[in-house]
Amino acid sequence: MTSIWPISAKRVDGELEIAGCNVGALALRYGTPIFVLDEVDFKSRITNWSSEFNSAFAESAGEIYYAAKSFISVEVAKMVNESGIGLDVCTGGELAVARAAKFPGERIEMHGNNKSELEISAAIDYRVGVIVLDSLQEIERVARISHSKNRVQGVMLRLNPGVEAHTHEYIATAHEDVKFGFSIATGAAWDALLAVVKHESLQLVGIHCHIGSQIFAVDAFKASALRLIEFLARYKSEFGIELENLNIGGGVGIAYTESDRPMNVKEFLNSVKGAIVSESDRVGIRTPRISIEPGRALIGPSMVTLYTVGTTKEVQLKDGATRLYVSVDGGMSDNIRTSLYGAVYSAEIVNRISSAKLRDCRIVGKHCETGDIVINSIELPSDIAPGDLIAVPATGAYGRSMASNYNHVPRPGVISVVDGTARTIVRSETESDLLALDVVQAPVKVTKVANEKSGEIK
Ligand code: LLP
Repeated sequence: MTSIWPISAKRVDGELEIAGCNVGALALRYGTPIFVLDEVDFKSRITNWSSEFNSAFAESAGEIYYAAKSFISVEVAKMVNESGIGLDVCTGGELAVARAAKFPGERIEMHGNNKSELEISAAIDYRVGVIVLDSLQEIERVARISHSKNRVQGVMLRLNPGVEAHTHEYIATAHEDVKFGFSIATGAAWDALLAVVKHESLQLVGIHCHIGSQIFAVDAFKASALRLIEFLARYKSEFGIELENLNIGGGVGIAYTESDRPMNVKEFLNSVKGAIVSESDRVGIRTPRISIEPGRALIGPSMVTLYTVGTTKEVQLKDGATRLYVSVDGGMSDNIRTSLYGAVYSAEIVNRISSAKLRDCRIVGKHCETGDIVINSIELPSDIAPGDLIAVPATGAYGRSMASNYNHVPRPGVISVVDGTARTIVRSETESDLLALDVVQAPVKVTKVANEKSGEIK
């Protein structure tokens, strides 16, 4: 099959198999909707990224951190750990998964623009290698908490290089008017640096930026790296020593449809490396140790979502044409990306090969909302019918991780398939799970707390 499918995906007697598992059999056993993870595909993407990264950056290769936000579970965290790369977490919840997987703290970096005191404390207690700082208040908070624990915490500063990445507005992060990072242009970044270096409980190990997500061109990565290098040069000229690390964030895009043209990993890394080396030479600093945080590029293509068609409905359009609405048993609760970012996916009927004429279809979910669309427009065989299985490829990133219980729909599980065997790594929710948080409780009196300062956020 083509590159938008996991490497092991193939048709056998007309039916789709992933890692030797027949999708019809998977659907029968685990129900639909369900996410199917090709574990070998995922691990081999990590291996490939690691070897390309190490050969591109050589002695200046830092860490690859897998961005947990794209998808994390205890088993996935173990896979990431076994493959030897690091983990980027951005909440206490993601850190809790890492802890449950016994992911080594020193290979974890903690992100987040509004980490709570508890999250900071948990990160320091777990001895995460790096906390990435994102506000002046947070610098003081992390310094205070680290000091109170008698620790020196490794930190980086998240900088905003003021670069426009060409992607959806909601997932671009490094133009000036955003909540993330300290702007280099306004001087906020330098002020933040001065605020960090005065704390003995913080050890500034480098600087970080993340320019956005689902990016198809290397230019914005290079432009932002260059601005960060100028910042490193200023540090050297003012402090007489060098900051060792530069983390260029994540954001490498993937193909969701045949017409998407993502970057080749090797070319991307070499191109970034070339720009960093020549700029470092130009400004007279050592080439920094480079780290990177791919999420989508590692897990995205490794998973597909299986749905069952429930109903089909022909709808007359204004221009006289008709569209076939194909309703599946999930929707915006397991894939919000179409309605949130206008993402475009592909799909196939996977329980059979059809030779029927193709026609324009819209794949929609089961939620009470018109915007509940999985694929806005796609050519599918016109004999598509209730009971057919549909697979949507490249749903590994930001699918299950952004899933919701809208309309009290249970979230799908994740099944890992290897060599003709399947195992559940996240079980599907049930109605009991949905009801588990509803409580019947006698009212308690809630009055203002005597010490007015107790609610204060320091
Ligand atoms: N590092 C940082 C600091 C990030 O904020 C992100 C993503 C990544 C790394 C990983 O980016 P990736 O390589 O996966 O593109 N929900 C959106 C994506 C939001 C990304 C948020 N940050 C989507 O579904 O497209």
